[in-house]
Amino acid sequence: MTEASILFFRTCLALLAMPIYILSFLGIWEPFCKKIFFPFFLEKLSTIHNRKTKKQKQELFRNLPDFAGPSGELKLLEIGTGCGANFQFYPPGCRVTCTDINPNFQQGLSRSMSQNQHIHYERFLVAAGEDLHQVPSGSVDAVVCTLVLCSVQSVNGTLKEVMRVLKPGGVFYFLEHVADDHSSWRYFWQQVCYPTWKLVFDGCCLTREIWKNLEQANFSELKLQHISVPLPGTPIKPHIIGYAVK
Ligand SMILES: C[S@@+](CC[C@H](N)C(=O)[O-])C[C@H]1O[C@@H](n2cnc3c(N)ncnc32)[C@H](O)[C@@H]1O
Repeated sequence: MTEASILFFRTCLALLAMPIYILSFLGIWEPFCKKIFFPFFLEKLSTIHNRKTKKQKQELFRNLPDFAGPSGELKLLEIGTGCGANFQFYPPGCRVTCTDINPNFQQGLSRSMSQNQHIHYERFLVAAGEDLHQVPSGSVDAVVCTLVLCSVQSVNGTLKEVMRVLKPGGVFYFLEHVADDHSSWRYFWQQVCYPTWKLVFDGCCLTREIWKNLEQANFSELKLQHISVPLPGTPIKPHIIGYAVK
């Protein structure tokens, strides 16, 4: 019964979004999404999401300076930087390497950089989280991922790269939206929206249980909390937040 109703509502949603499915079939949607729609949408989303999670992010990144190297320098790598929503939370002098698979966020990124001149921008790499070969092993003190593990091709592959690039004792910070409790209505709607949401929002998957990947990733310490971010009318309320030490 549940499977049938998921399928029914999925079809209704797909019919509503038919123009996008047609554009996708014609090979037009994906390039338009990556170049124009998603960069525009992400800047709006980042502003709203940052407003709703400001306190949690401030608390999350509070201990970042503790992970600086012996010289006091903090080398941070961000995966899926997007428009630079996290720059404001990094401590002064922090040396940031930004990476993203999509190079089309220059406008939002420049705006965020000019508002956050307290950090050093070392490098901008077009790279997938699953393949950070441009970053040497054991070279960074901290890695940050926010709202990215929902979209990567492989969560485990990305975590493997996080482990590789981190120095021993380095830290991985995360804030990700995740699947809701399987008995909840929201999980039902997450399953309904899944295919259309993924198509519209550049590969974002609604039902990933990312905490399980983190638990299995062999970090020496994992601090993880399930929280609800008030984003009414969306299926992305349930989040996980925390950090893991190599
Ligand atoms: C929802 S946005 C989040 C951006 C930013 N981290 C934030 O919190 O606002 C997801 C980002 O992950 C990037 N992304 C998607 N797949 C990726 C991958 N395999 N490797 C690296 N970045 C990826 C997207 O291009 C996009 O910038």
